[in-house]
Amino acid sequence: MLNKKIEKALNDQIKVEAESSQAYLAMASWAERAGLSGTAAFLYKHSDEERQHMLKLVKFVNDRGGQAVIPELKQPAKDYKTLQNVFALLLEHETNVTNEINSVVDVCLKEKDYTTHNFMQWYVSEQIEEETLARNILDKLKLVGNDNGAMYMFDRDLLAVAAAPESEK
Ligand code: FEO
Repeated sequence: MLNKKIEKALNDQIKVEAESSQAYLAMASWAERAGLSGTAAFLYKHSDEERQHMLKLVKFVNDRGGQAVIPELKQPAKDYKTLQNVFALLLEHETNVTNEINSVVDVCLKEKDYTTHNFMQWYVSEQIEEETLARNILDKLKLVGNDNGAMYMFDRDLLAVAAAPESEK
């Protein structure tokens, strides 16, 4: 049975993951309209992955006798200045998510809930990968600058990343 502090921390995290999914969906839609189909495919997929992160938490809370709360979500931005701006926001967002995950882990340790602590380790590892990926993409975009040819290649590369199985990323 989950104690109330753990249940609250996990429900807060459900909202964080749902908002991540929503934010990346907005970015994907923007990229699609900007003609960046590879980037859009990457971001749509990323949005789906965040939804899976949320669902995994929903099921864990319910399976352990708690009550998962499906949250109301705020509307993300509709427009972004540049693609670099999109990925800078994405990296900033993921850094915040890492902090939130760390707070959940903190509560687990304080409450001596080692089962939830163990469950959360998957999220701890996932965050390392996601932050690294976002940083790498941002570094590439800095190299691309205003070069349209390089942007075309960048977009094609992201299409390949979106199409690759998880193990090859
Ligand atoms: Fe589920 Fe990107 O954090």
